[in-house]
Amino acid sequence: MKKTVLITGGAGFIGSHVVRLFVNKYPDYLIINLDKLTYAGNLENLKDIENKPNYRFVKADIVSADQMLQIFNQFRFDGIIHLAAESHVDRSISRPMDFIYTNIIGTTNLLNMALGQWKNNFQDKVFYHISTDEVFGSLGQEGFFTEQSAYDPRSPYSASKASSDHMVKAYHNTYGLPVLISNCSNNYGPNQFPEKLIPLAINNILNQKPIPVYGKGENVRDWLYVEDHAQAIDIIFHHGKKGETYNIGGNNEWKNIDLIRLLCRIMDRKLGKPEGDSERLITFVKDRAGHDLRYAIDATKLKKELGWQPAHTFETGLERTVEWYLLNRKWLENVLTGEYEKYYERQYQHR
Ligand code: NAD
Ligand code: TYD
Repeated sequence: MKKTVLITGGAGFIGSHVVRLFVNKYPDYLIINLDKLTYAGNLENLKDIENKPNYRFVKADIVSADQMLQIFNQFRFDGIIHLAAESHVDRSISRPMDFIYTNIIGTTNLLNMALGQWKNNFQDKVFYHISTDEVFGSLGQEGFFTEQSAYDPRSPYSASKASSDHMVKAYHNTYGLPVLISNCSNNYGPNQFPEKLIPLAINNILNQKPIPVYGKGENVRDWLYVEDHAQAIDIIFHHGKKGETYNIGGNNEWKNIDLIRLLCRIMDRKLGKPEGDSERLITFVKDRAGHDLRYAIDATKLKKELGWQPAHTFETGLERTVEWYLLNRKWLENVLTGEYEKYYERQYQHR
């Protein structure tokens, strides 16, 4: 094998798309998918590639230095693409410590392992940390986040991701570890856990349940189709300049309420229902605490320096996403059990 690449969090939403892309596109790379399989990790996401000869799955917790040491003793990695994280803002508000452990301590553990394994021989090695635009805080009506924007995280989730970004940068500055960081806007697409806005709304429409819109639905997010993010990760991993940060975004801003209305129209059409049928499910609920108003990414650097362009428009991406959820109702059913149901009740009972 030409390279051995560790991908953490590969059973999650974005990670599974990255694992699939790498396993299929690089048959001469050995891809190790390391995942704890929390509520968000689902190996069903990878059924189509699980028997490929260049793929292995390892169940482990990045917070455990012992478990990480065992894995780093077993494999010699050329590259690490680190996606494992607690990723949902609402959960970070109710259980911040999970985010501190996984996102900060887990990331630092991995940095130590990489440093230990590569022992100053950094030739052709890279530690690539996947982060979010939420580290930059909240925008007003105008402006965009660039790579120069100051960090101003405002939720326990974004603060934990900002901390992990800082640790990655510190290991580069202090020890010379070859690192890359990318900060991406909101992703959507197949396999996203139905606690995030788009799959949650699709699932509720399918089950004729209220669609909870926080506050007045005026908050703005910049949406990117998950496969476009995976493509960007591939390009940055292979061509990014060590020590640099790249912003990734679709230049695709939507107010939550407008997005939900568009989604309702697509769902009505696909389900053969009269237009307006799903919109009546929209229910305004109590706002999220500290709800960031607007995120918007300026991805000029990535486009200019590395030639990345998103391949999907929002309209085609959203159609594909809805089609996937309609065709994969069993996937939805399987994840909508146990822990998730309990979480859902806790999250929405007072709203
Ligand atoms: P996700 O919640 O769907 O998946 C996270 C994965 O990490 C799961 O498979 C989970 O089992 C695993 N994991 C969690 N804790 C772990 C631990 N302690 N040890 C090992 N594995 C663990 O998340 P996602 O939406 O796919 O996000 C992936 C990464 O991309 C995260 O780092 C997130 O911050 C970042 N990101 C996400 C978005 C987005 O819109 N979803 C946008 C920008 C950046
Ligand atoms: P989410 O998918 O949780 O992503 P993030 O908070 O990381 O941006 O939420 C996207 C937007 O949708 C955000 O402004 C919060 C809002 N939202 C709702 O209005 N209702 C919901 O039930 C959820 C989960 C989110």
